[in-house]
Amino acid sequence: MDQGRPLSFEEAARIIGRDVGAVAKAALWLSSKNLVSVEEIEEKLIGLGEEGRVYAESGLPERRLVEELRSAGGRMRLSDLKEKLGEKEFGIAVSWARRKGWIEIERTSEGAYAKLIADVGEELPEERVLRILRGGARKLSELPEDLREACTALSSRPNVLEVKVRRVHLLKPREELMRLDRSILEVAEVTRLTQELLASGEWRKVKLSKFDIYAPTPPTFSAKGHPLRELIKLVREAFVEMGFEEIRGPLVELAFWNFDALFQPQDHPAREMHDTFYLAEPELGDLPKHLVEPVKRAHEDGGDTGSIGWRYRWREEEARRLLLRTHTTATTIRWLADHREPPVKVFSVDRIYRNERVDWKHLAEFHQIEGIVMGEKVSFRDLLGLIKEFYAKLGLKNVRFRPSYFPYTEPSAEAIAYLEDKKTWLELIGMGVFRPEVTRPMGVKHRVLAWGGGLERLALALYDLDDIRTFYMNDLNWIRGLPSIYLRRKVGLL
Ligand code: PHE
Repeated sequence: MDQGRPLSFEEAARIIGRDVGAVAKAALWLSSKNLVSVEEIEEKLIGLGEEGRVYAESGLPERRLVEELRSAGGRMRLSDLKEKLGEKEFGIAVSWARRKGWIEIERTSEGAYAKLIADVGEELPEERVLRILRGGARKLSELPEDLREACTALSSRPNVLEVKVRRVHLLKPREELMRLDRSILEVAEVTRLTQELLASGEWRKVKLSKFDIYAPTPPTFSAKGHPLRELIKLVREAFVEMGFEEIRGPLVELAFWNFDALFQPQDHPAREMHDTFYLAEPELGDLPKHLVEPVKRAHEDGGDTGSIGWRYRWREEEARRLLLRTHTTATTIRWLADHREPPVKVFSVDRIYRNERVDWKHLAEFHQIEGIVMGEKVSFRDLLGLIKEFYAKLGLKNVRFRPSYFPYTEPSAEAIAYLEDKKTWLELIGMGVFRPEVTRPMGVKHRVLAWGGGLERLALALYDLDDIRTFYMNDLNWIRGLPSIYLRRKVGLL
């Protein structure tokens, strides 16, 4: 064995009869002891491309041209050459032969001629490369200098060569390794004391190898939830700590619950096809009979809600249309219709659908966080306090409110949070006190504080991402790379 020669991991593996993984591990250990160094290099593997295989078989086009010229005495009509070489090769051959200074084109009154003007050698470096590569791909580094240059020239021609780049790890012995007392290799080292070693007394002679608890090992990936599920878990915890109960409702919903019961007029733009996914089959569902009349009244003239309503003819047919819920407020109002007496303190974190063009900040299917509180004495101020407390649990301490509008709340507001690290404001939720036009038809007599908003935008901020689609692409590298305590640490729970 030639001593001190660098070895690639593959070569080393072949020599010791183990796999590359074992060599890599040994290399790390040896380099931690300063006995070897490991270098990563790029290795180019050169092979023949489609065109290259043809040239290797029948010669470069310009070589064939020269041969034709020679056998014709050094001069030939271009049109004859074209016939001999074929249209495609002829063009390539003439252009390269001229570029190499082998021929000259002569234009005479009888036509154009090619004339041989150089003494072309027997085998050019480029041709040698083709010949060598006929026997299989070669490492570029193993070719002599002049052939490497020829490779560069050949690779400027389309499909002649195929270059593959490989990363290679080189194991290089250091001087310390060369100086190492070889006798240490002769002492048997054991990693485990066995019964035989003890019984035979052999244990006195062996050397017990030390464990290096810092030695690198291949990473192991523990099971953990998807980042979005981890956030949902945290949101649930925050609500439960505040005394809320979770509710869920159907994804396929009646327009009645999604819009009408929330006092959204039937010509409201949000109902239109560009925002809402309506079902084609079945198209209509059944309404809760006892609520049809009160909701119709609220829309048409306000009924007994103290309002004058929207002043249009409310159509039952429109309310019966089935859709994919566009907000979790549909689920909230469903619940409220069945739970008319205080106290009510419920929340949901669930999926909703909107007909949006998917891009870095929009999805057509996403999640909302939503909650309501109904009580005899609750006020708008309680709502502000609740929201502050809730988001503080998610690590957002700087929350502010600004006026807003929703057809179902009065007053209405919007909560925003300041992101310290990004120096920007993030929209969190819409909120407000349900209007009497919403609560009265349901038979609810007390004030209902309500709020709801997206989960994914909050998730973007917490995970420090800038593309909302990340959550749905299942990029294992990203998911595995996130420590399982990431989120809890980020919101200040750890
Ligand atoms: N449903 C509203 C939305 O989707 C949010 C909201 C919920 C606003 C409850 C007020 C009250 O944006």
